[in-house]
Amino acid sequence: MNKALFLKGLALASVVLLSACERPVMDTVQRGYRGTGMVQVYNPRIIEQNEELHAAPMSLPPASTEGPKAGKVYQNVKVLGDLSAAQFTQLMVSMTSWVAPTEGCAYCHNPANLAEDSKYTKVVARRMIEMTQHINSGWKNHVAETGVTCYTCHRGQPVPAQIWFKEPPQANGADFIGGRAGQNLAAKSVGLSSLPSDPFTPFLLDSLDIRVNGTTALPSGNRHSIKQAEWTYGLMTHMSTALGVNCTYCHNSRSFSSWEGNPPQRATAWHGIRMARDLNLNYLEPLTATFPSQRKGELGDVAKLNCATCHQGAYKPLNGAPMIKNHPELVGKPAPAQVAAAKP
Ligand code: HEC
Ligand code: HEC
Ligand code: HEC
Ligand code: HEC
Repeated sequence: MNKALFLKGLALASVVLLSACERPVMDTVQRGYRGTGMVQVYNPRIIEQNEELHAAPMSLPPASTEGPKAGKVYQNVKVLGDLSAAQFTQLMVSMTSWVAPTEGCAYCHNPANLAEDSKYTKVVARRMIEMTQHINSGWKNHVAETGVTCYTCHRGQPVPAQIWFKEPPQANGADFIGGRAGQNLAAKSVGLSSLPSDPFTPFLLDSLDIRVNGTTALPSGNRHSIKQAEWTYGLMTHMSTALGVNCTYCHNSRSFSSWEGNPPQRATAWHGIRMARDLNLNYLEPLTATFPSQRKGELGDVAKLNCATCHQGAYKPLNGAPMIKNHPELVGKPAPAQVAAAKP
């Protein structure tokens, strides 16, 4: 056989073989100066697969604010008393479709007495209403005017698909190669990497230092270790996967620690980290005693949220669909000053 022909055939075969590995071709979008590597890579196949997941639900138009207030009409209304009875009923119908469409009103209510608080789900839901109002009024520097409803996290299920619990200590225990130090697991939470598999407890519940880069040439200026940096990378990997973006969606490719020349999304993310902490600490953890044991983690802790709980793989939850436009009742009173004053 002609050698040149054979080589040509081989080259052709390898093109066919290799191109079959990544099909269809990835889409790339340039987001910075040429040559700086500020490029986002998207897999059109995954985007197509998740179209339904990221579609916004149907929404009823806002109900009339006229007429008697819910606080007067009903017996046991502690949060939504200022709504008109029409708004109140409409919100109950929407909440049912967002959280418990299969189970209906009875998921939270004793149908014989709607005023009763006998089901834990009603007690949790009341706090969830307050949490949603707080997100929409107190964290505008993250959720903007897009906002969230129960659907952003719940997507038609009582338990949101993306939640996390603390890791039981045996996962950190020693084995024949020594202590795992919370890592080397190929954990899903950190994109199947061997990074620390629970970066949530230190950063999205506690407020440990995420910034690890030194600001001086000598180590005396930096008290952080490589080991600490691995926890930061664990969190960053979660953030990237939760939003379906690469690192340069938020960072400039020249220096990950510098804020100069970053896309504005990094500041949004900075507020998002503080928001997740606030919600886990002040809304979810205090509900620990309210939840039944089958809803809790191995350590008896309550389910908590992270970036994926709302985003679920999209750069903005539900691809940025405006959620509170038709639900002004889910926007709380103006934000406390302490949140507005916080800056990166
Ligand atoms: C996800 C939980 C949940 C679902 C589902 C739900 N509700 Fe409610 N409902 C609540 C909460 C929480 C309150 C109390 C609100 C407050 O305290 O401001 C409430 C209060 C009420 C009240 C006031 C009762 C009183 O006299 O105090 C009525 C009426 C009501 N709901 C009707 C309904 C109807 C009808 C449905 C089904 C279409 C429904 N709810 C579905 C959580 C729920
Ligand atoms: C930011 C995300 C988020 C939003 C927004 C949110 N929830 Fe939740 N919700 C959670 C998490 C996390 C849990 C804990 C999961 C569990 O039940 O174990 C939860 C649990 C619940 C439960 C208990 C379900 C069960 O079976 O244990 C109810 C009921 C509920 N939410 C109602 C609501 C309602 C009503 C709204 C809107 C007013 C709402 N949630 C908004 C995150 C959210
Ligand atoms: C959604 C935005 C976003 C994405 C995506 C992201 N980061 Fe970050 N990153 C941040 C923010 C915000 C901080 C600062 C956190 C703070 O101070 O609370 C940060 C901090 C860091 C730091 C610490 C810098 C210092 O000052 O010590 C490193 C290192 C880092 N990121 C690496 C990465 C890597 C690697 C990836 C990709 C796997 C990534 N980041 C993806 C937003 C992001
Ligand atoms: C309570 C739900 C919720 C949680 C939790 C949440 N986000 Fe968001 N995020 C949103 C909403 C809503 C928007 C859209 C705001 C807008 O339209 O500008 C958004 C927007 C963003 C954006 C801007 C995207 C863009 O292209 O402009 C970034 C970056 C981001 N979130 C990062 C994060 C990170 C990182 C976390 C976890 C630390 C997180 N978010 C947790 C609801 C959430």
